Amino acid sequence: MTTVVDMQDVHKVYKIKGGEIHALRGVTFKIEAGEFVAIVGPSGSGKSTMINMITGIDRPTRGEVHVAQHRLTKMNEDQVAEWRGHNVGVVFQFFQLLPSLSVYENVIMPMVYTGRWHGERRQRALELLDRVGIADLVDKYPAEISNGQQQQAAIARALANDPQIIVGDEPTGNLDPESAERVFGLFSELVKNGKTIVLVTHDRDLAGRIPRVQEVRAGQLMTGDAVDERLVQRAYP
Ligand SMILES: Nc1ncnc2c1ncn2[C@@H]1O[C@H](COP(=O)(O)OP(=O)(O)OP(=O)(O)O)[C@@H](O)[C@H]1O
Ligand SMILES: [Mg+2]
Repeated sequence: MTTVVDMQDVHKVYKIKGGEIHALRGVTFKIEAGEFVAIVGPSGSGKSTMINMITGIDRPTRGEVHVAQHRLTKMNEDQVAEWRGHNVGVVFQFFQLLPSLSVYENVIMPMVYTGRWHGERRQRALELLDRVGIADLVDKYPAEISNGQQQQAAIARALANDPQIIVGDEPTGNLDPESAERVFGLFSELVKNGKTIVLVTHDRDLAGRIPRVQEVRAGQLMTGDAVDERLVQRAYP
């Protein structure tokens, strides 16, 4: 088996006015290639912080993070950005399509710096839009399509460079049940095709359909009684 995500004793402390927030308190977590993992937990428990360590959007205060065979904690910001463009597809809750670009242009954008020639980029963008079910919307602008369709386009864009791992932070959080189901179906299909997927979700039903569910509480992973209940009490009195 290939380990795609390896977090070792990761801590994250945010400095804020008047103090510090210890958002992650020693997270050790591994994800193997082809796994489908849900991250659940109360608001403020550290789910997005954890996800941001995996995508390299943020870096730990202490600990090590290896993702897709790279040691992120040793790389500088430019190196991480370059690495992310090739290895990780990211989908957020709120829409991240560029409003001034068409759906097609949004999907082609991540491919621009990859050395693929124009015709190949075009063909791949059209294929991806077809695969996520919105081939007929290529020339629309984000404001002209529904939230669910925007999320389908965001997934197509996340797949542009054929990343090893897809990370979603509440990707269905803002969708009606039918659109959420369609988007969830796309993720399930990607796992069948060998992708590794990590989704943060508040939706218990949805999490229940994901093979591996990891709960986060007060910056720690729940593993039986391993969580320090005093921290949880302090965070959620
Ligand atoms: N950039 C930041 N600066 C300061 N504090 C932050 C920052 N980002 C997150 N935090 C704090 O870190 C803790 C964990 O936040 P995080 O966003 O990871 O929670 P979450 O589990 O994703 O919550 P939600 O379900 O509401 O999205 C919270 O107390 C939050 O206020
Ligand atoms: Mg969050």
